[in-house]
Amino acid sequence: MRLTVVGGGSTYTPELVDGIAGRRASLDVDEIVLVDPDTHRLRVVGPFCQRLLDHAGHPAKVLTTSNLRQGVEGASAVLLQLRVGGQKARRSDETFPHACGCIGQETTGAGGLAKALRTVPVVLDIADTVREVAGPDTWIVNFTNPVGIVTRALLQAGHKAVGLCNVAIGLQRKFAAWFGVGTDDVRLDHVGLNHLTWERGVTVSTPDGPVERLGDLLGEFGERVAEELGAPLPWMRRMNAIPSYYLRYFYAHDEVYASQLENPPRADVVIEVENELLKLYADPSVVTKPESLAKRGGAYYSEAAVQLVHALTAGGEPEEHVVNVRNNGAMPFLPDDAVIEVPATVDGSGAGPLPIRPVEPRFSGLISHVTAYEFLALEAALKGGRDRVADALLAHPLIGQYDTADRLADDLVAANRADLPWA
Ligand code: G6P
Ligand code: MN
Repeated sequence: MRLTVVGGGSTYTPELVDGIAGRRASLDVDEIVLVDPDTHRLRVVGPFCQRLLDHAGHPAKVLTTSNLRQGVEGASAVLLQLRVGGQKARRSDETFPHACGCIGQETTGAGGLAKALRTVPVVLDIADTVREVAGPDTWIVNFTNPVGIVTRALLQAGHKAVGLCNVAIGLQRKFAAWFGVGTDDVRLDHVGLNHLTWERGVTVSTPDGPVERLGDLLGEFGERVAEELGAPLPWMRRMNAIPSYYLRYFYAHDEVYASQLENPPRADVVIEVENELLKLYADPSVVTKPESLAKRGGAYYSEAAVQLVHALTAGGEPEEHVVNVRNNGAMPFLPDDAVIEVPATVDGSGAGPLPIRPVEPRFSGLISHVTAYEFLALEAALKGGRDRVADALLAHPLIGQYDTADRLADDLVAANRADLPWA
């Protein structure tokens, strides 16, 4: 089959291609099409991806194009992994909220809203082209951040889309390694929204049936968990859950804010890593994935993608994966059309959330609050207008004051005018 990657010039793409190369048995790909407006990137990343495949003895061919229509033609699945405005826009997202005493982050808070506003219209245009050219049966797997809002936009517009993030698979892998068991033997009771999730249970399958091991993670492995996720152990024990790293922006907002003022934005760090990576990718003697790719946050995203595309396209039995899907009553306190990140059954007909045990108020409050923000963020992205931006910001739990929301809205619009179709 033909797999198309929009944003294929990303320095992440070799991670994806390496995953495809290593899982030939799980996914039958014979063409990978990288689509990107940046022809320079394509000329470096494309041939390197081909070398990765050749070196692994994988027969797939890599094609590159800046023409979206050409790139999606005949695709069985299209992966979206783009960044409107590049790292420069990310740097702005990570810094403009500081003047208002708020953290700057590419997916959370005011920075995340800026990214959503730039991205939603572009992604919807691309999805329309996919539907028109590749046909209505082609699956869209969305990695583009903010994944929750962008996936909701796609589903609301009637596209065949599933949202994906590597946070869950990253934890699943980590816990499996610590326990010394196979990845597939670990199942997470993962609940929340994209970049706003908690693990309320971690079961390991054994010959005698599943064994709950969250207690071990918060006991014997507690120090490691606390260190890797940046959360205090006594509090995790009290909460009886493991929060994702992104919850630091909520639970340790002031601490993160203070450290952001002292350190360069992540965008600047990533620019350095990307320069290093592009040099290696351009070197014809490099035929395997460079070590420095691990300096990016996207570990295992290839694995998540390969598994999901397989489940959606191979016509096999339903599989369970943690994905971003329409709520459809799974969390009864949220609207049906909210997009949630939970374990789901996935097959050729799509993904649907598995039943979720009642969500405790210590989680459901924040989930509801951020869901309301995401609804208003999408309204602002689709309809435009400075006041809609301010309304979304006011509804965000990290903002919530009208003077701050007003000032952030003005700063956001001023910083992003070139990428906002309505401004
Ligand atoms: C994790 C998140 C992604 C995010 C990435 C950032 O993988 O799940 O959604 O894009 O981190 O990594 P970076 O290397 O760009 O900071
Ligand atoms: Mn993510």
